[in-house]
Amino acid sequence: MTEIIKAIEKIAIEIYEAIKTKDTGKVDACNASGDIQVKLDVISDEIVEKYLLRVKSVKEIISEEKEAPVTKEDGKYLVAYDPLDGSSLIDVDLSVGSIFGIYENDYKGENIKAAVYVVYGPRVEMVVARDVVELFRLNEKTKEFEFVKELKLKEKGKILGPGGTQKNWYPFHKEMIDSFFAEGYRLRYSGGMVPDLHQILLKEGGLFAYPGTTDKPKGKLRKLFEVFPFAYVYKKAGGEAVDGFVDLLTLDYENYHDTTPCFFGSKEEIIKVLRTYKENK
Ligand code: AHG
Ligand code: MN
Ligand code: MN
Repeated sequence: MTEIIKAIEKIAIEIYEAIKTKDTGKVDACNASGDIQVKLDVISDEIVEKYLLRVKSVKEIISEEKEAPVTKEDGKYLVAYDPLDGSSLIDVDLSVGSIFGIYENDYKGENIKAAVYVVYGPRVEMVVARDVVELFRLNEKTKEFEFVKELKLKEKGKILGPGGTQKNWYPFHKEMIDSFFAEGYRLRYSGGMVPDLHQILLKEGGLFAYPGTTDKPKGKLRKLFEVFPFAYVYKKAGGEAVDGFVDLLTLDYENYHDTTPCFFGSKEEIIKVLRTYKENK
């Protein structure tokens, strides 16, 4: 596992370099998840593949940008990753990230063993969730990730990141979001799940929601590459992660690119989500 985390540190440094120096244009293609790719999605995917396939304990990799996994002879861990999350935000110079889920046997939520994400913002930060959740920051001079602190969520927060197209929210979902704002929650939403979830985690509480909508009943965010890794991070930090009804990490998958509605937050906010969704089933 340590080898994988060391490889992710190298990956992060190289992707950050690419973000700063490479063309931000689009590619004339869609990825396996059906999104328009930018050149940096492809470059980042190649960087991750290059480093992860060199790691002895890695048996297989699959990414948001790949149709199917790449498998090796040996190894124990399966790594599912989103090499560049929020890539459409690079053009407007907002923060983006990389997300990694490290699994054993298959990519069921219950089989995730660790999760790591990197935020490329004014500073580069990496969060590693194993038994505990730890924050590291890149020292640009030494190119080392330095430990900053352990991260823990409180029982309740003050900020809200409500994703999805509001026109297509179900009325009960809109009522729930409105009632959080009526309680005093402040809007914190950039359109990149990595910085949005990172902010809630560092501010020690709140709610990020990407619900099912009338046009996309299964939501937008992908289980293997985005949702399960962040569910693991939030749960290990003392929060909760649900699809509206159940713990996200109890979910299975049929296809590598499956999506699910998802809610990540501190305990009190998630209780309200579960109550609201149960009442409106
Ligand atoms: P990606 O750039 O990897 O395709 O995913 C971006 C994700 C996520 O970061 C964000 O929360 C969500 O897409 C926003 O999507 P919409 O603006 O389409 O709602
Ligand atoms: Mn993504
Ligand atoms: Mn992506």
